[in-house]
Amino acid sequence: PTTREYHWTVAEHELNPDGVYRPMTLIDATFPGPLIECNEGDEIVVHVHNEATNATSIHWHGLFQNGTNYMDGTVGITQCPIAPGHSFTYRFNVSGQSGTYWYHSHMSMQASDGLVGPIVIHARGDERKTLQKVPYVEDRVVLVSDHYYDLSSSLVMQYLQPGNENDEPVPQAAVINGRGTRNCSDLPNRKCSSSGISNALFDLSPDHNTRLRFINVGAFAEFQIQLDEHEVQLTEVDGVDVHPQSIHRLNINPAQRYSIIVTPPADNKGLYWMRARMITHCFAYEEPELQEEVRAIIRYGNPTSHSPTTPEEPQSKDWPEVIEVECKDLNTSTLSPVLAIPAPSQADDLIYLRSSFQIHDWRLSRGYLNDSSYRANLSHPTLTTFITGVQQKSPPHLYSLSTPYGLNTYLYNASTTLVYQTTGIRTLDILLQNFDDGNHPFHLHGHTFFVLASGHGYPPAPDTLRENLDLTNPLRRDTASLEAYGWVLVRFVADNPGAWAFHCHIGWHNEAGLAMVFLTGAEVLARLEVPKEVEGLCGVEGMEKGAPP
Ligand code: C2O
Repeated sequence: PTTREYHWTVAEHELNPDGVYRPMTLIDATFPGPLIECNEGDEIVVHVHNEATNATSIHWHGLFQNGTNYMDGTVGITQCPIAPGHSFTYRFNVSGQSGTYWYHSHMSMQASDGLVGPIVIHARGDERKTLQKVPYVEDRVVLVSDHYYDLSSSLVMQYLQPGNENDEPVPQAAVINGRGTRNCSDLPNRKCSSSGISNALFDLSPDHNTRLRFINVGAFAEFQIQLDEHEVQLTEVDGVDVHPQSIHRLNINPAQRYSIIVTPPADNKGLYWMRARMITHCFAYEEPELQEEVRAIIRYGNPTSHSPTTPEEPQSKDWPEVIEVECKDLNTSTLSPVLAIPAPSQADDLIYLRSSFQIHDWRLSRGYLNDSSYRANLSHPTLTTFITGVQQKSPPHLYSLSTPYGLNTYLYNASTTLVYQTTGIRTLDILLQNFDDGNHPFHLHGHTFFVLASGHGYPPAPDTLRENLDLTNPLRRDTASLEAYGWVLVRFVADNPGAWAFHCHIGWHNEAGLAMVFLTGAEVLARLEVPKEVEGLCGVEGMEKGAPP
């Protein structure tokens, strides 16, 4: 194992990723942020120095943080924010997992202002050979993202006004690896410059396979992605290697990751488009400046691969234009992990969560899980509040949540936070039902879960539902899509002590309160030594800067 050490400065910059200038919050002035590439088992050390005017934090999306819950970077749950002018060092080991991950600010909606970046964890030698069913020589990260021209803080206040609950701010554009191309003359009211602006370019070898690791780092939009005229092999879902599925197009929700293996076409034409289209039917209103599709260029066999010259435009065809071919889209329900793990045959409890939007106190519209709308307590993170409570022998107050199934008794509500404490419970089912017309990518920190079933309308009663599950080797992932007016059943083993966020990864929804906490391994947590530096973040002046009211 190696230690990989990084020094990052977070600061504001004005940048024009696709031509249009906008204020951004960035790591070392780069968009997206620097790649963290490591091997399974390595130690990661990241010194974050905050020179921005707002507070910040970095969350390592999908990393288990086993034994280091306080390094999870979740403001209000595992830490207080890093105040402007202050520094913090994240230090953790990456073990028991490999694949494609990412990091992002977990302070307010800062991620959508540019504070995002990729993490690649390579499996070790032998394991790599077993896990990877389709060989490849090189790999690249492809970050796709919706792109707003305004700061998230100004948009979020507008969004939380009553009556806007289904009017999420609509992005103006999309970017691939921080690049896109707008025609400045179409946007007369924006400060814009096309000089030096071009599509992202991927130089691939015509002689061997390349793995592309897609990550949706956006705040809102689901994307459909394709490489023109390429049938590709899908091999990874959220860090879990799966038996290859041959596809033409894939849909990806915010925070999800997919790897594909690209084989150069037999009649290689040299240049192809990669297209990423936002699924816009969930967009509540017309955005006059909207450009739905962003493209990147795939170029084979350029000997001077770092040549600054932009190639001419590919002439490749969009799949729907290739009429003799029926499009094969990704179907995640037929995927099975290479490392087969049966789901536990029974769950010790089931939590039934209804997600909805309601007007809170006539002042703000909020997202709800049952009766709770989450609001981060910036100065009292759940983790340390819990540990202190136990040590002072005033454990948090337990209350039961009434659900039609009457099963949940280990919940407590620390002011506005819905917390589920898993004491006495090892395996837990979460049955999530969506009462609105948008889809929600739900993410659980610190774990992967088994995705057992999903559907539309009301779910069957749990007993019926649980009778017909295929538990042999279900797909495991860390971010599952909950469809509009639909439901999903996930099962997870609560074996990683910590306070872990569970939330919709649409930035606007998370900020509106569509979130809760699972508190697992309470006995172990009560004895956890939280490093002084973590607690030292709390109570610092400026710590709350950038949080909405
Ligand atoms: Cu990508 Cu709460 O996380």
